[in-house]
Amino acid sequence: MSSGLLLFWFLISSLSTSSSLKDTSFVFNGFGQANLSLDGSATLLRSGLLQLAEVSNHQMGHAFTKNPIEFSSSKPLSFSTHFVCAIVPKPGVESGHGITFVISPSVDFTRAQPNRYLGIFNGSTTGSNSSRLFAVELDTILNSEFRETDHNHVGIDVNSPISVQSAPASYFSETQQRNVSVNLSSGDSIQVWVDYNGGVLNVTVAPLDVKKPSQPLLSRAIDLSEVFQSRRLFAGFSAATGSAISYHYLLGWSFSAGGEVLQPLDILKLPRVRRPSVKRKKPYGLIVGVPAAVGVLVIAALAGVCYHRKRKYAEVSEPWEKEYGTHRFSYKSLYVATRGFHKDGFLGRGGFGVVYRGDLPESKPIAVKRVSHDGEEGMKQFVAEVVSMRSLKHRNLVPLLGYCRRKGELLLVSEYMPNGSLDQHLFGDDDESLVLSWSQRLVILRGIASALFYLHTGAEQVVLHRDIKASNVMLDAELNGRLGDFGMARFHDHGGNAATTAAVGTVGYMAPELITMGASVVTDVYAFGVFMLEVACGRKPVEFGMEAEKRFLIKWVCECWKRDCLLDARDSRFGGEFVPEEVELVMKIGLLCTNIVPESRPTMEQVVLYLNENLPLPDFSPYTLGIGSFTPVVVDAASLTGTFTSRNWSGPAVSSSSANNTREYEQVPSESKKSLKVVAEAEDIEAGLSKPTSGMDLNT
Ligand SMILES: *[C@@H]1O[C@H](CO)[C@@H](O)[C@H](O)[C@H]1NC(C)=O
Ligand SMILES: *[C@@H]1O[C@H](CO)[C@@H](O)[C@H](O)[C@H]1NC(C)=O
Ligand SMILES: *[C@@H]1O[C@H](CO)[C@@H](O)[C@H](O)[C@H]1NC(C)=O
Ligand SMILES: *[C@@H]1O[C@H](CO)[C@@H](O)[C@H](O)[C@H]1NC(C)=O
Ligand SMILES: *[C@@H]1O[C@H](CO)[C@@H](O)[C@H](O)[C@H]1NC(C)=O
Ligand SMILES: *[C@@H]1O[C@H](CO)[C@@H](O)[C@H](O)[C@H]1NC(C)=O
Repeated sequence: MSSGLLLFWFLISSLSTSSSLKDTSFVFNGFGQANLSLDGSATLLRSGLLQLAEVSNHQMGHAFTKNPIEFSSSKPLSFSTHFVCAIVPKPGVESGHGITFVISPSVDFTRAQPNRYLGIFNGSTTGSNSSRLFAVELDTILNSEFRETDHNHVGIDVNSPISVQSAPASYFSETQQRNVSVNLSSGDSIQVWVDYNGGVLNVTVAPLDVKKPSQPLLSRAIDLSEVFQSRRLFAGFSAATGSAISYHYLLGWSFSAGGEVLQPLDILKLPRVRRPSVKRKKPYGLIVGVPAAVGVLVIAALAGVCYHRKRKYAEVSEPWEKEYGTHRFSYKSLYVATRGFHKDGFLGRGGFGVVYRGDLPESKPIAVKRVSHDGEEGMKQFVAEVVSMRSLKHRNLVPLLGYCRRKGELLLVSEYMPNGSLDQHLFGDDDESLVLSWSQRLVILRGIASALFYLHTGAEQVVLHRDIKASNVMLDAELNGRLGDFGMARFHDHGGNAATTAAVGTVGYMAPELITMGASVVTDVYAFGVFMLEVACGRKPVEFGMEAEKRFLIKWVCECWKRDCLLDARDSRFGGEFVPEEVELVMKIGLLCTNIVPESRPTMEQVVLYLNENLPLPDFSPYTLGIGSFTPVVVDAASLTGTFTSRNWSGPAVSSSSANNTREYEQVPSESKKSLKVVAEAEDIEAGLSKPTSGMDLNT
């Protein structure tokens, strides 16, 4: 009798659980039995682990409920969820981009993008309402264009990758009675709770061995009924990688809708996370490796002697370079990587040398710049600086990998940037070059501003770039701007007379005080201001081919502002798709930075804040003193003459992409220093430079 009752009760209870499972509540301790639909890079591993993205570039993966969840339409929309995930880094690689928990009326993410868009948004959903979805992001990358301030953060996203609220990942520890930070990309399993009662949304995170903290990390009043018209919604996850990569795993997930009880996850039943095996062979490697390495060295030395006879791969190496051994590439490896500097790999000619693409075994593609030089003077200091630049790490700098020296030649090795330099896209007239949209341009400007801010303040010592312009900004695979060629301007200095400070740069970007005061952070700010105008207006700072009033970009933008039609100066090629306030903001900051009074220019920190709309612009108008006056810096022709004959690498170079108007000059300290002059009026430089065009003519 009693067993019959028990059976009856069992039947009832199992019936009721199975129906609630089907409807609005479920729990997966591991995903072996789960009935989810996967796409993209998402795969179910045999252990029951759900791998949303593995370590390869630009992946995105989704895992969603097969059927939409029916939320009751008579009650406010509400749900609770608890899941366990892990972001496992690959040793030595930046970890990204993160996992999101998503609620969406659709599971069609074919138009979403990976990397910072996390596999659910795309470039055109930034700041708009076009995609209807709600997400909680565990993001391991700082994207300043989404107003993020921490690279390890949790955020609430409604229809846009710009979070409505976010905070660095942490939890309130009951035992320690304080907030303890959580490293999202440590590879450890992390628990996340998202609770929404129809009014307030709470997000809580904690390590696996911690009970649910009493205080949520994020708590925000949100009306999700307004976001979603439909009550049939899918719940699930997305993860994405970019050039930053990591394994993204989901271990378990419990979900309940409409105030039903959330079924607990059984932590003990969760699958184990696989870690990439980190060199367990190390001791063995040492024992066998050291004698082997010595042997190899001896053989290499012998072989080296033979090679040096051949001269083909001959290099110059001096005792002082020993300490930079690891940053030195052999000429032979570069020769092989670029297939003998074959013309197929030719990338362009910059002001300082010729650049080739190369492929090294087991490494990302590289770019090799060959800079020829005569003097050895200053070389030691320059190499020391190149090597120290390796320690500069910022997402918006072109990573410098190392160098190699030969007689009369220096080779600089950096990461290859697949999308070329920004000027090709701004001014290139071949149809293949892609015209950048306004939002892409803004992302680039914000990136370069933050890189320059980093160079000025974040590195161990102040690093000046000295030659900011569109042709020195490279675009990576995701069209992020990356500042390149930093320090190259220094090379001019050192190659010349290290004791004197030479003013180096590009006409149109050089602050007026450069000659008298030398380079400083404020001359970089000036050049950045010109660069901002260049990007917003899609033209070079000085264009002699134009009618007089438009010739000097700074003046022209200021004129437009005086006439109350600032937007007239913008690049017409980004069409109607732009936010007028943003374009005006960029132009105004550009004018602020190009104030001829150095003390009136903002710092890069302020520029970053203005650009991200975290600080209002100061009060100023086109009539403010120092705004909109273009005072070109020009070098007396006599001082250039010496340059041509003494050093072939420092002559005025016309870069492949900079067409006839912008010439690069170096102004060299020499006997003729007294002949340097500052030409105060724009018309003078025009008169001086619009003579027959080639730089060589200045020789006469
Ligand atoms: C999984 O979901 C699909 C679609 O709803 C359904 O046809 C299938 O029977 C389910 N499988 C299991 C094992 O529940
Ligand atoms: C986005 O949606 C909210 C609420 O529906 C609305 O108030 C806001 O104006 C919309 N914004 C845009 C840019 O459409
Ligand atoms: C971005 O996503 C939205 C919503 O999913 C879609 O309407 C739009 O077409 C997408 N844009 C691009 C450029 O793919
Ligand atoms: C812990 O973090 C929460 C959320 O960021 C914050 O509201 C709270 O004041 C912090 N508590 C302590 C003790 O720092
Ligand atoms: C998080 O952990 C990873 C892997 O251990 C480590 O590389 C990274 O520096 C850590 N991040 C922080 C902010 O501690
Ligand atoms: C959110 O957190 C607050 C503060 O701990 C709590 O009072 C509230 O009940 C929570 N709301 C939900 C929906 O969990």
